[in-house]
Amino acid sequence: MMSHAVEINNLTKDYEVGFWRKRKVRALDKLSLEVERGEIFGFLGANGAGKTTTIKLLMRLMYPTGGSATILGRDIGDISMHARIGYLPEHPYFYDYLTAREFLEYCAELFGYTRHERKRRAADMLSRVRLEEKSWNKQLRKFSKGMLQRVGLAQALVNDPEVVFLDEPMSGLDPIGRREVRDLIASLRETGTTVFLCSHILADIEVLCDRAAILQRGRLAHAGRLDELRQLGGERGMEITVVGANMPELEARLAGIEGSRLTASPGGARIEVPTEKQVDAALDAVRASGARLVSVHPVGNPLEELFVAKVEMNEGQEEKK
Ligand SMILES: Nc1ncnc2c1ncn2[C@@H]1O[C@H](COP(=O)(O)OP(=O)(O)O)[C@@H](O)[C@H]1O
Ligand SMILES: [Mg+2]
Repeated sequence: MMSHAVEINNLTKDYEVGFWRKRKVRALDKLSLEVERGEIFGFLGANGAGKTTTIKLLMRLMYPTGGSATILGRDIGDISMHARIGYLPEHPYFYDYLTAREFLEYCAELFGYTRHERKRRAADMLSRVRLEEKSWNKQLRKFSKGMLQRVGLAQALVNDPEVVFLDEPMSGLDPIGRREVRDLIASLRETGTTVFLCSHILADIEVLCDRAAILQRGRLAHAGRLDELRQLGGERGMEITVVGANMPELEARLAGIEGSRLTASPGGARIEVPTEKQVDAALDAVRASGARLVSVHPVGNPLEELFVAKVEMNEGQEEKK
């Protein structure tokens, strides 16, 4: 059987803090999880949850206090496996005075590619991450955050990695930049690349990932398919906006739908139903009242609520100690 892309067993990390490094802070507490080949795996957690610590342990930038992990079936201590993986750090450091093209060629050189191959790969990657060609020969110190993030992604992909680790790849990007990075990550699915995607933003994980793990204060809170995680969050309500309704008629028709709420708004009305299943009945009522439909959308996000609720709960416990 082929090994998992990533397998983590009881991985634990204590940081030694304070002037004499006497006090220990547990940043990661017996984390176990598996990432399958070819999937886009979301690693979600609030700031300080331990995501970057996990990635740094996997990249062998630090040693674990306990536990073990494998990538592509190789122990993380086996550095030769690094030729088959890619990594975008949370705060990448670039050689400012190199141009984008020089930097990429330099990265390719570290993997031992020939001169010709280095040039080909640098150009390939820079177009793949949609960095405009006119910027390829500019020094990186002149780049915007969004452009640097693209260069970082190009760097992480330069060796056609089988698994790529991305630590908050969308951070600091404007909405267009976020969408482009998101599309790029989605395109990795077609090449069969496994993606380990860290983010504290649920929306990014939700649209991209097959499965996700939620980390809270160094501990695994949940792991599973996105639809399973959504169910943990329970039902989500729906909001329907209409115009031109005969209000008494609409009110009478909605009375039969349990938990529905009608609010008049300038020029129209807003209807809320507590579950998705009731949307059809509410739309029947809308039609019968002669109203025109403007929009239907979910109210809130159950996964977000679950996630936020959990964090608050843990904080509450902390205070009691
Ligand atoms: N070098 C370090 N020394 C001491 N504590 C650290 C260090 N790096 C991170 N931490 C602490 O470990 C916890 C997890 O941090 P981190 O892995 O960066 O979380 P995330 O990436 O999820 O935001 C935090 O409480 C953070 O303050
Ligand atoms: Mg982090």
